[in-house]
Amino acid sequence: MKELRDAVATEVRKVVVGQDPVVDLLLTAAAVNGHALVEGVPGVAKTLMANAVARAFGVEFRRVQFTPDMLPSDLTGTTALVGGLGGEMRFRPGPVFTNVLLADEVNRTPPKTQAALLEAMQEQQVSADGVTHPLPDPFLVVATQNPIEYEGTYPLPEAQLDRFVVKIDVGYPDPADEEAMLHIVHHGVAPATLDDIRAVGSADTLRRVRSTVDATSVADDVVAYVAQVVGATRTVPSVELGASPRAAVHLLAAAKATARLAGRDFVTPDDVAGVAHPVLRHRLILRAEAELERYRADDAVTSALAAVPVPR
Ligand SMILES: Nc1ncnc2c1ncn2[C@@H]1O[C@H](COP(=O)(O)OP(=O)(O)O)[C@@H](O)[C@H]1O
Ligand SMILES: [Mg+2]
Repeated sequence: MKELRDAVATEVRKVVVGQDPVVDLLLTAAAVNGHALVEGVPGVAKTLMANAVARAFGVEFRRVQFTPDMLPSDLTGTTALVGGLGGEMRFRPGPVFTNVLLADEVNRTPPKTQAALLEAMQEQQVSADGVTHPLPDPFLVVATQNPIEYEGTYPLPEAQLDRFVVKIDVGYPDPADEEAMLHIVHHGVAPATLDDIRAVGSADTLRRVRSTVDATSVADDVVAYVAQVVGATRTVPSVELGASPRAAVHLLAAAKATARLAGRDFVTPDDVAGVAHPVLRHRLILRAEAELERYRADDAVTSALAAVPVPR
């Protein structure tokens, strides 16, 4: 997995400057058969990065721009009559039938279409007219959104956010990176190098990485630590609703991937703590007073981590 990460990161660096942690987290989501939500203000390369990573993975990739007028069938597919009168009804698969789906600006589309996406993520299949159509394997959704307070047309409900293994916050590059970015070749304002990104993986590689991650060992006290950290999010005073048991499953899986990225075949408490923010931040609902005081979900994750003794 480490080799794949290094190779992917090298490719992605051809077009994106200073966002290596994002590559790690996208790979983590892929490695646990999960999905990633990428949040950030416009223009921080969310789309570009998802694009670059998908190309480097070497699997089939589709991008869907979510819009207010998009229908669920625009995503999942339609059943149509082919062959004219006396022809047959046939299912025409929508863009969701791919290995990596970039669901771009997912909070700009109404709940019905969001729900169709989330259902596909959950079930790994699409049902149309009583027939189920399995999605390809691997199937990774990378959804992007603007921060809710920025342009929250249709914020994803918490129950749906919980299905994303990680929420990746993409911030502004630091000044040196922003300058380095300007040295990347552009054609006018378009990045020129996206076509130079080589496929360094394949569907097979991703499936192999997945089984490697599954086979990562976790000592009982580390398992207990995962459960305690997730439990602690429910008792942080500023938190209205803490993380779910599903979050605990996701945290353990992501910690295994984190261990593999570090070249280890066992999970340490640091792996758990290291990935706790991206795994937990989108699942916490804060009390209104706390939000007014600019207390963030990430602060609550920090409090939860601080409340649990680290096993050693
Ligand atoms: N870290 C970065 N490295 C390289 N280019 C960047 C970076 N951040 C922004 N850019 C530039 O800004 C453009 C906007 O990126 P885009 O992926 O469309 O942003 P977003 O989807 O976040 O709105 C990119 O095409 C690229 O030219
Ligand atoms: Mg974008």
